[in-house]
Amino acid sequence: MIWAWYHPEKAAPLWEVETHEEMNSDDWAPLDRYEWFLNTHPQEMAENAADPAHFRYVHGTASFPEWETTYDGPKSRGLQKANMPTPRGEVKGEIHTASFGPGQGYTRFMGIAETCLMGLTTPIDNENVVIRFAFTQPKVNGEVKKGGVNAAIVKDIVKQLGEDAPIWEHKIYRPLPILCDGDGPIAKFRKWYSQFYQDFDPKAL
Ligand SMILES: [Fe+2]
Repeated sequence: MIWAWYHPEKAAPLWEVETHEEMNSDDWAPLDRYEWFLNTHPQEMAENAADPAHFRYVHGTASFPEWETTYDGPKSRGLQKANMPTPRGEVKGEIHTASFGPGQGYTRFMGIAETCLMGLTTPIDNENVVIRFAFTQPKVNGEVKKGGVNAAIVKDIVKQLGEDAPIWEHKIYRPLPILCDGDGPIAKFRKWYSQFYQDFDPKAL
């Protein structure tokens, strides 16, 4: 992975890239990689994380997830407790999410099949991005687990991106959206994200 830093006024990098042990460990499977080119903006995609309701209504998850997000400078962390449907009933799962600036996302799924995902967003211009997913899962007795629930969880996450994509490509940014009961903390998310713009006017939120 090659990281590049861009700042319109050529300021030095304001935070460090995060490294994840699993991604470079022999105990974890080689990265399983995916790539999409989308007609959207990185903020629109990231806003997904402040919208728990869409997991049920867009992605068809079993329940309305409970989600807590904490913001700390350029980093954010989230914890979602989600029940995952299996043929033998629901299994309690946890999804830990993290963002290190607007381009580096990390998700760890725990419960059925432990999975780590890097979600990496790179803007191409004002209206186009490339998003790359890289998954890894722990080996069992030195072997990469293939098929079964391990493959199913990756397939489901990739399917979810396909469900989000048409929304991201068509939604219109409203500075003051009309929010309803059950909508997530969109304003809090936007306030955090505003630090990644040069000369952002907080009154525009
Ligand atoms: Fe989504």
